[in-house]
Amino acid sequence: IIRDDASAVGEYIGNYVAKRILDFNPTQERPFVLGLPTGSSPIPTYKHLIKLVKAGKLSFKNVVTFNMDEYVQLPEDHPESYHTFMFREFFSHVDIPPSQVNILNGNAKDLIAECNAYEAKIKSYGGVELFLGGIGEDGHIAFNEPGSSLQSRTRIKTLAYDTILANARFFGNDISKVPRMALTVGVQTVLDSREVVVVVTGQRKALALSQAIEGGVNHLWTLSALQTHPWALIVADEDATAEL
Ligand code: GLP
Repeated sequence: IIRDDASAVGEYIGNYVAKRILDFNPTQERPFVLGLPTGSSPIPTYKHLIKLVKAGKLSFKNVVTFNMDEYVQLPEDHPESYHTFMFREFFSHVDIPPSQVNILNGNAKDLIAECNAYEAKIKSYGGVELFLGGIGEDGHIAFNEPGSSLQSRTRIKTLAYDTILANARFFGNDISKVPRMALTVGVQTVLDSREVVVVVTGQRKALALSQAIEGGVNHLWTLSALQTHPWALIVADEDATAEL
């Protein structure tokens, strides 16, 4: 789906996700399980969802969320932790009970156990209904950097140098302050979701988008794995389609 600009993309995805939540299981016997990303790309989507909630047209009371990733060893209350980001940009503005929010703990004593428990918790809810994602300039989905196995599951990942450079803007342009590792859901964790919706905006993402859509399925542009998913949707703005 191509829309004029980032704000139109956010409106489209916001309405799309809202419709899925509203149409889901009206008896409310089980919650709608939603996977969520961070980054600047999903902010217009979050803004639109917040608007719908404030207008009384949508509620997150019966939604359980799982975030895609979190930095390792960045304090949870650091302004750039994904915990802080999610509450600042989204959760604090909607009616989701905090107990229904799941974000990987990058400060857990046993990081491997943390990752395994996350996968188990997703399974205990019957899997993710809709995974919303963004991509990095190197085509990564969540923090599945180039070279990640397409069968990967939640695990510790060392960030690619390109990602550290791209994210330095959030750390006062000081590369030394950017965490070197993250916990991330795997490519397979995303593929297991019944539906995947990815937001791709800005010219910086144009090469990644063309590689992921027009190239073959491969582990260097991990978004390309979505070609194997039965229900994956990419919503891009005009700028991001420059290389298609
Ligand atoms: C980080 C996140 C990704 C996100 C990417 C893009 O690398 N781990 O999940 O897709 O940033 O960020 P932005 O939308 O700011 O370009």
